[in-house]
Amino acid sequence: MQIGILGTGTLASALAEAWAASGHRVLVGGRSRDKALAIADRLGDAVRAVEPAEVAGASGAVVVAVSWEGLDEALALAGAGRGSLAGKAVIDCTNAVDYADGLLKPSTGSAVEHVAALAPGSHVVKALHLFAGAGWLLPAEGRPTRTVAMCGDDGAALETASELVRDLGGVPAVIGGLEHARQLEDVAGFVMRLVATGHNPATAVPVVEPRPAA
Ligand SMILES: NC(=O)c1ccc[n+]([C@@H]2O[C@H](COP(=O)([O-])OP(=O)(O)OC[C@H]3O[C@@H](n4cnc5c(N)ncnc54)[C@H](OP(=O)(O)O)[C@@H]3O)[C@@H](O)[C@H]2O)c1
Repeated sequence: MQIGILGTGTLASALAEAWAASGHRVLVGGRSRDKALAIADRLGDAVRAVEPAEVAGASGAVVVAVSWEGLDEALALAGAGRGSLAGKAVIDCTNAVDYADGLLKPSTGSAVEHVAALAPGSHVVKALHLFAGAGWLLPAEGRPTRTVAMCGDDGAALETASELVRDLGGVPAVIGGLEHARQLEDVAGFVMRLVATGHNPATAVPVVEPRPAA
């Protein structure tokens, strides 16, 4: 698949590397042409630097890997308001968390719903916001299972996101529609607060064996 990544920071670079390694072609674009070029130069032929307005193009999925403060500008540069992401699976990885207190910055709603509002016609999915990007680059051998909880309202977009998660070596888990987005985004702040208080988040949720699927 061709994957467009909006953003040229730490997460964009790690995801581009991991997906390129699993056989995808990746377009990377952000407000800094130089940063996009540096990622493409580092990763070789499978990854190409483009202008943000070209990220969507023929891509089968567009991944938003931008800071909360930069979302509006990044999506504007990508032409989202003019419909450039219409019909696309758009995977939003944004953490709109205040790092001082672990609370979400938007008082209502969620970052992914904000993306949906700025990108009319897009099929947004919230996913890949909880794990550090660099973790997807660890050798598969011995890597712990990473369940990637996601939510969205479009079945085909959720299937595309699930496929891309599997290609990273993760296990996709669709928890429901966009009404779950704020809950899912809140988990990042919850994890952060636990770490800040000296606890391992993995020990802070009950171990519950799921019933076998019927
Ligand atoms: N790093 C991770 O492992 C990780 C994991 C899960 C989720 N996330 C989330 O993914 C997003 C990106 O994280 P990151 O670690 O890659 O951050 P980062 O390295 O700081 O990169 C942020 C990206 O946002 C862009 N940006 C910031 N302000 C902008 C603006 N006004 N207009 C256009 N673009 C703007 C930056 O462009 P410039 O470089 O030009 O400033 C850069 O491309 C964040 O929401 C973060 O919470 C990160």
